[in-house]
Amino acid sequence: MNVVVTGGAGFIGANLCRELSTRPGVGRITALDDLSTGSAANLKGVDAELVEGSILDTDLLDDVVSAADAVVHLAARPSVPRSLADPFASHEVNATGTVRVLEACRRRGTHLVAASSSSVYGAVPTLPKHEDLPTRPLSPYAASKLATEAYVLAHGASFGLPVLALRFFNVYGPLQPAGHAYAAVVPAFIDAMLRGAPVTVHGDGLQTRDFTYVGTVVRVLADAVLHQVTCAGPVNLAFGTRVSIRELIQRLATAVGGPPPTVEHLAARPGDVRDSQAADGVLRGLFPDVTPVPLDHGLADTVRWFRGLPEYAARSAGEPAGAGVL
Ligand SMILES: NC(=O)c1ccc[n+]([C@@H]2O[C@H](COP(=O)([O-])OP(=O)(O)OC[C@H]3O[C@@H](n4cnc5c(N)ncnc54)[C@H](O)[C@@H]3O)[C@@H](O)[C@H]2O)c1
Repeated sequence: MNVVVTGGAGFIGANLCRELSTRPGVGRITALDDLSTGSAANLKGVDAELVEGSILDTDLLDDVVSAADAVVHLAARPSVPRSLADPFASHEVNATGTVRVLEACRRRGTHLVAASSSSVYGAVPTLPKHEDLPTRPLSPYAASKLATEAYVLAHGASFGLPVLALRFFNVYGPLQPAGHAYAAVVPAFIDAMLRGAPVTVHGDGLQTRDFTYVGTVVRVLADAVLHQVTCAGPVNLAFGTRVSIRELIQRLATAVGGPPPTVEHLAARPGDVRDSQAADGVLRGLFPDVTPVPLDHGLADTVRWFRGLPEYAARSAGEPAGAGVL
């Protein structure tokens, strides 16, 4: 089976390519990525071909998808703050780009697994979030991901395309970058703690998130591809572990070791949801064999990965502050 991963040089995409390369039954793996937030280095040592280009390039997309038996569509302009800075760019890649990927798949009836986001629940206060709840996006990013999954499911309904739209919650783990303005919370906190810098929290830190280790996510994605899993509605990809940002800091501090970090609070960010926790019944029905990696194990693995990066390894070896390259 030949698999195309759009966004395959990104954080989740490159972890997926590595997972797929270990699976019997998977032949050629192609990562289609414009390297806007991903990096060729993420695929170092992975048996996957990187095709550098955009999902908005129809000819390239057709060419790449024509040889595929399955497509995992992860390419997107991620993050809420990025979408606040440029809503149209998020729409262009996340909504229009998804339609282009779907049309390329439709030509050959190719199975498509796509990434949606828990952010689509937005202002809906009910916990846990189950898939039958209404959606109320609070940011252009969330609206664009709702468009992503709506187009995916509509292509399933309209054209009989075999599709699966998975709502990722807060995914974390190795390869997730720190050190830029839009960094996700786990890498941003680990980076600060390893540098001995203050940890910055938006809001009071009592907001909650359902963190999912990337190893668990890519296991589900690979199983979905190999077993051609489809579903007529969206499916949460998280396991209902709700942790506040304050608790996350404590758990990370334990994983990192050393003195507790200083915490600085900034104003809450527009577009951020207050609480997030997945209902996992539909997911467990479709993937009964998947056991999630517990949060503390996943955090410890992620800290270990960070410590192995040259900039942090040098710091642990006692190099002067400022030697980092992030
Ligand atoms: N990480 C999370 O917690 C999370 C949560 C919810 C949803 N998601 C979704 O999961 C997917 C992967 O996210 P990630 O965290 O790995 O982010 P990422 O930024 O590391 O991955 C996205 C990849 O898409 C590529 N890309 C962007 N525009 C492209 C284009 N026009 N053509 C081709 N490639 C393009 C980027 O270069 C990058 O490699 C995204 O669809 C994102 O919306 C992630």
